Amino acid sequence: MKIDSTTKVFGLIGHPVKHSLSPLIHNSSFEKLNFNGVYVVFDVAPELLENAVKGLKALGIKGFNVTVPHKESVMNYLDFVTEEAEKIGAVNTVVNENGILKGYNTDVQGFIDSLKELKEDVRGRKAFVLGAGGASKAICFALAREGVESIVIANRTLNKARALAEYIREEFKVKCDYCSIEEVEKFNEIDILINTTSVGMHPEVGNSPVSEEVVAKANFVYDLIYNPSETLFLKYARKNGVKSANGLSMLVNQASYAFYLWTGEFFDKDFVYEKIRGEM
Ligand code: ATR
Repeated sequence: MKIDSTTKVFGLIGHPVKHSLSPLIHNSSFEKLNFNGVYVVFDVAPELLENAVKGLKALGIKGFNVTVPHKESVMNYLDFVTEEAEKIGAVNTVVNENGILKGYNTDVQGFIDSLKELKEDVRGRKAFVLGAGGASKAICFALAREGVESIVIANRTLNKARALAEYIREEFKVKCDYCSIEEVEKFNEIDILINTTSVGMHPEVGNSPVSEEVVAKANFVYDLIYNPSETLFLKYARKNGVKSANGLSMLVNQASYAFYLWTGEFFDKDFVYEKIRGEM
């Protein structure tokens, strides 16, 4: 990679950001497409977010991704936010257009494309979404937009599940209920089961958000976690012959849209998957 005075700089802000795969995805794709760009990672503590965003703007950083815990709060410091990102209440991609910072959310489309890659059509189906945070909201948006028949949001903190279910019902006129994580055990018809909580994520790999019995009832199981590549939740699925996927393809697909917003080109997904496999 040759860095010179015209190299366009992109990055990621989050806290922590140490294990992110985004630098690998974007830098290898810049190189493959002969795009004179570089993608770097910035660990930004929450109290420094405003200064960091002002700094990125002042330095002419061309674009950046935003991850936990800044996806919501970053919106306060942008010049423009798309209608979709506004509705979701979260931005994961920012484009710097001649000093104007524009915020987008590519997570929803990233998840929809990931389902397409997996040949899972959610139309007319029943989905259970575990978790009621920012990631859950993006997933519920995607499911509702893709025509799911109903959603049940299950969360440790019931109030958050209730609030999100109400919002999804209002926004999409789709059937959306809520319950506690324990109550999921009582349902017999589960069909699609998606984990958006951090339970099972490295280093807490010995935990699953729900029991093996719940996972065994599903027809399709999706875990947004990709590190480890097979969580305990996904192990239960494999053991019971339930089709499953981890969050890697959502990661790659959301990155693909961010890359497009920055460069006007989509990267080669197969190449990116290969690069990631080589790294993991
Ligand atoms: P993200 O943007 O990744 O969704 P978030 O908004 O902080 O992150 O949401 C994290 C989700 O994981 C929440 O649904 C959280 O449950 P609470 O609302 O009860 O906090 C869930 N979560 C995190 N740790 C959990 C745990 N140990 N058990 C169950 N749920 C957990």
